[in-house]
Amino acid sequence: MRRGEKGIVVAMVISVAVLGGYRWYKNAQDTEEDPGIPFYSTASPELTSKAAKIMHRENCKDCHSLWGTKDFTQAVPAPSLDGIGRFRSEEWLYKYFSAEVPQDILPTRLKPQYRMPSMAHLSEEERRVLAKYMASLQVEDWYFEETKKARYEKLTGKPYPGDEQ
Ligand code: HEC
Repeated sequence: MRRGEKGIVVAMVISVAVLGGYRWYKNAQDTEEDPGIPFYSTASPELTSKAAKIMHRENCKDCHSLWGTKDFTQAVPAPSLDGIGRFRSEEWLYKYFSAEVPQDILPTRLKPQYRMPSMAHLSEEERRVLAKYMASLQVEDWYFEETKKARYEKLTGKPYPGDEQ
């Protein structure tokens, strides 16, 4: 091999090693930085699809986000429903959806047009489906504090005071 050729081979070996090393480093970093999506549901596929139909018809996503999505043309500051099953039991949810005035159960800080509408017009079966599905919406422990904080701020309009208070 001539000198020039040797130089090229050496340069190629170095770049392959550098690229490989960089890739390896990136991968190692990515796994550390991205722990995945913190929300999940324990509902069966049937329950999920029954609940999805009701939620679509009642336009829950006009006001609430779920699985990170919401109708972005709407700006109602309602709490996110992701992980709501960690905060509310199925019984509580069923009562809430059955109330003529949900604000008697959970007070509001919002103008009437933004408040949680009553779901009392739904059949008992549909209210049970909604309650059961909502109760199945869970959040991983590592994201629980974040979820609690966001929900508190949405419900009260005040900054989260932390656990000391
Ligand atoms: C017009 C906007 C609007 C629509 C539509 C709506 N909500 Fe709400 N919801 C709210 C608001 C705002 C609150 C907070 C309480 C309040 O201000 O009345 C709330 C509260 C809740 C809560 C209690 C949240 C908590 O943190 O404890 C649940 C559960 C809930 N909604 C589920 C639903 C479901 C399921 C639907 C559809 C079937 C729905 N909402 C439709 C605005 C809405």
